[in-house]
Amino acid sequence: MNISHRLISREQHLQIINDFGLQLLHKTTIDEIVWLVAKSVIAQMGFIDCVVYLVDESGNNLIQKAAHGLKNPIDKTILDPILIKVGEGIVGTVAKTGVAELIHDTNKDDRYIIDDSQRLSEIAVPIIYENKIIGVIDSEHPDANAFNKEDLTTLSTIASMSSIKIVHAKTLMDLKNHKANLEKQIEERTQELTKTIASLEKSNQDLESFAYAASHDMQEPLRTVVSYLQLLEHNEKTLSKSSKEFLGFAVDGSKRMKKLLDGLLEYSRVKSSSGTFKLVNLEDLMILVKADLQVSIRENNAIFTYENLPTVFGNKTQIHQLFQNLISNAIKFQKPNQQPHIEITAQEKDGYQRIRIKDNGLGIDSDFHDKIFGLFKRLNSNKDYKGSGIGLSLCKRIIEYHNGNISVESKINEGTTFIFTLPKAKDS
Ligand SMILES: Nc1ncnc2c1ncn2[C@@H]1O[C@H](COP(=O)(O)OP(=O)(O)O)[C@@H](O)[C@H]1O
Ligand SMILES: [Mg+2]
Repeated sequence: MNISHRLISREQHLQIINDFGLQLLHKTTIDEIVWLVAKSVIAQMGFIDCVVYLVDESGNNLIQKAAHGLKNPIDKTILDPILIKVGEGIVGTVAKTGVAELIHDTNKDDRYIIDDSQRLSEIAVPIIYENKIIGVIDSEHPDANAFNKEDLTTLSTIASMSSIKIVHAKTLMDLKNHKANLEKQIEERTQELTKTIASLEKSNQDLESFAYAASHDMQEPLRTVVSYLQLLEHNEKTLSKSSKEFLGFAVDGSKRMKKLLDGLLEYSRVKSSSGTFKLVNLEDLMILVKADLQVSIRENNAIFTYENLPTVFGNKTQIHQLFQNLISNAIKFQKPNQQPHIEITAQEKDGYQRIRIKDNGLGIDSDFHDKIFGLFKRLNSNKDYKGSGIGLSLCKRIIEYHNGNISVESKINEGTTFIFTLPKAKDS
């Protein structure tokens, strides 16, 4: 047997492994690691050439990642890189079986694939990480019997040292990509959101100015209609019975129209009319609200339960409107012949007062819990329960202006509770 002309001692083998280990410490990318294997180690071992292959993402192919010798004419380039299928040729077999191969004469091995030119000896060791074959280090030599068992041992050690580093580098790269991807996604989302917010603000402003203009400007023609209707009413005697009836409808309609326009105007003014926030004592406020609603409270014999209501921090006029709307609803949406019972409680939580206004009225089907806060949304007929459908949308707007939220808990026939938050007074 032709003994290899490049015999290296056991000490040299150990030295090579040692040097490799030291250099490997400083490598962080897959590229750096595979080129370290191909260039320094293989050169030190006196091999003429070498190719480091890594298995691709699909797990089916081996890709030439680094080379030494003829396949590497300059810098970190590979001359005519080829792709080898796992299972094909000697390298492919090693990638499939995970067992290193030492071939003394490739003429006698029909698996041999000629890359650039035929060589007689070949050594191929798998790079394995946790039972998974991730690549192959392969070296060929023009002479037969060029490699020995010691080469195989050293190369296998190099391969296992590399494998850990390669997997770590890959994990690091994946993490970096993932992070970059996430950052990109966040950036895109932020941009989208900024755009959406801008367009929402724009449409909100449009809506506000539309509501203001509409309600304000329509008051004038409505006044004209009303004054002519009043003139007609004064000349009642000249009217036929049916004309009187029609006139009655027209007067009712225009009164309703006026209420709607007033409500809309009030709604569109919520933001602009708001002065500075002040301390608002809810016990004191309830006295005012009850005075405002005294007629309907008396007519319906409504009773109230509340105790030690807190002081909140907000716009007094708006909070007054809020309570008045919710309490008038609680009295209004009542079953016939039932005495309205309204209970108000408050609970402090995270800088807010959470207030609940509970009634024993008609209740609201859960399908409508969100809808009732929309402008002009009403669930009951105007014949039985008068209204414009603006009250709750106004309440929502007021609460939003106070950075709070409002929701409803209710079941049909079991009463309704409106729950909302208002900023707590700093000293309460
Ligand atoms: N306390 C309540 N109990 C039952 N239904 C209610 C109550 N409050 C509001 N609703 C329902 O929500 C609708 C919207 O309320 P709101 O905006 O105040 O309008 P309006 O009082 O002018 O009808 C009401 O028409 C009614 O159907
Ligand atoms: Mg109402």
